[in-house]
Amino acid sequence: MTTDTFKTATRFGSFGGAFAPETLMAALLELEQAWLASREDRGFSAELAQLLEHYAGRRTPLYHARGLSTELGVDVWFKREDLLHTGAHKLNNSLGQALLAKRMGKQRILAETGAGQHGVATATACALLDLECVIYMGAVDAARQRPNLLRMELLGARVEVVEQGQATLKDAINEAMRAWVGDPTAHYLLGSALGPHPFPSIVAHYQSIIGCEARAQWQEQAEGLPDALIACVGGGSNAIGLFRGFLDDPAVRLIGVEAGGHGVETGKHAARFSGGSPGILHGCYTYLLQDDDGQVLPTHSVSAGLDYPAVGPEHAALAALHRAEYTSCSDTEALLGFERLARSEGILPALESSHAIGWLISNASALEGQRVIVNLSGRGDKDIDTIARIREQGS
Ligand SMILES: Cc1ncc(COP(=O)(O)O)c(C=O)c1O
Repeated sequence: MTTDTFKTATRFGSFGGAFAPETLMAALLELEQAWLASREDRGFSAELAQLLEHYAGRRTPLYHARGLSTELGVDVWFKREDLLHTGAHKLNNSLGQALLAKRMGKQRILAETGAGQHGVATATACALLDLECVIYMGAVDAARQRPNLLRMELLGARVEVVEQGQATLKDAINEAMRAWVGDPTAHYLLGSALGPHPFPSIVAHYQSIIGCEARAQWQEQAEGLPDALIACVGGGSNAIGLFRGFLDDPAVRLIGVEAGGHGVETGKHAARFSGGSPGILHGCYTYLLQDDDGQVLPTHSVSAGLDYPAVGPEHAALAALHRAEYTSCSDTEALLGFERLARSEGILPALESSHAIGWLISNASALEGQRVIVNLSGRGDKDIDTIARIREQGS
C-alpha cells in the first residue's frame, strides 16, 4: 500500500469502504460519479475557486509566531484557518459539497455537527446557494456550543437537537444518516473525512487546499521543508487537509493529536489509536473505541469537535504505513494551550485546535530548534462559555 492511490480511493489500504444500508448505496454511487465528474469540469472548479477566494477569504495566512517560538525554543508557524469566513476550516468542505449538491440538482441538505462549526459552515453555504438546510446536533453539544446553534438558526437552517445516546457527534451522525435513508434524494453534507466511501475522499479533497497553500506559502517565506506538521484529529478533516500537501515528503513528520480527555488510562477520552481497535462505525472500517463485544464506547473531550469514537480511514491507513504518528493531548494540556496562545500571540484558538498547541507545548523540548506548522483549525469564540465555566469551577 502507498499513499499514491489515496486521492480517489474507495479504500485506504484495508481501511474505509462503504458499509451502508442498501437504500443508501444508489445515493452513494450517484455522489461518487458526480464528484468524479465535477473534478474534470473546469467551470465547476473555477466557480469553487472564486467562492473560496472572494467569499470565504482564501488564502488563509501562514503566520510565523515569533513570540511563541522564542518561548518554546521551537520555530512555530500557524496555518490560520481560524481566519476563514465562519471561523474554521469546515467552510472549505461545505462550500465544495454544497456546490456539488447544486450541480446534482439537489435542493435539500442534511448535515450533522459537533462543535457547531460544520453546522454553521453548511448553513452559510446553503444560505448563499439557496438550499434548504437541516442540521442534526447532539443536546450536549447544543448546550456547550450554544452560540453556534443560534448562528445556524439565524442563517436560516433548521436545527434538530438529538437527545439519544450520549447526545454528542456520534448520535448526531446517526440521526442525520437515518434522515438520509428516509430521503435519499437529499444530499447528506458530511463534515469530516469519515463515513462511507466516497465521503472520506471528497472531504479530504476539499480540505487539501490547506496543505496545498501551506506548502506554497512555506516556499515563499522559508527554506526547504518544515520538520513537522501538527494538527488535531476529530474525524480528521483539518489534519488530512494539511497532511495531503506533504504526504510525498517523508522527511516531514505528520503528527495527529487526538483528544486525551481526562487521560487515556481513565477511559474518558477520544484517543482512538491508543485506546481503540479496528471496526466499523458509520459505514467505514477504521480505528474506533469499542468493547470486546464490538459495542461502541462512550467518549469524553472538553472539545465537542474531537468527541467522536472513530477516526477517518485515511488516518488509519497512514498510521498502518507509519507515515503519520498519532498521539493525544489531555483536556488540561489543551486548556493550557488555549491560554498560552491567547497571551503569547493574541489569538483565541478553538478548543479543538488547542489540542495541537497543547501537545506542542508539552513536547517542545523534544522538538527544540525544529520548524513546525500547526494547523489552527478554528477560532475560539464559540468556546468562551466553556472556558468561563471551567475557570469558575477552578476558582
Ligand atoms: C475548529 C475545529 N477544529 C477541528 C475539528 C475536528 O474536526 P476534523 O478532525 O474533521 O478537522 C472541529 C470539529 O468540529 C472544529 O470545529
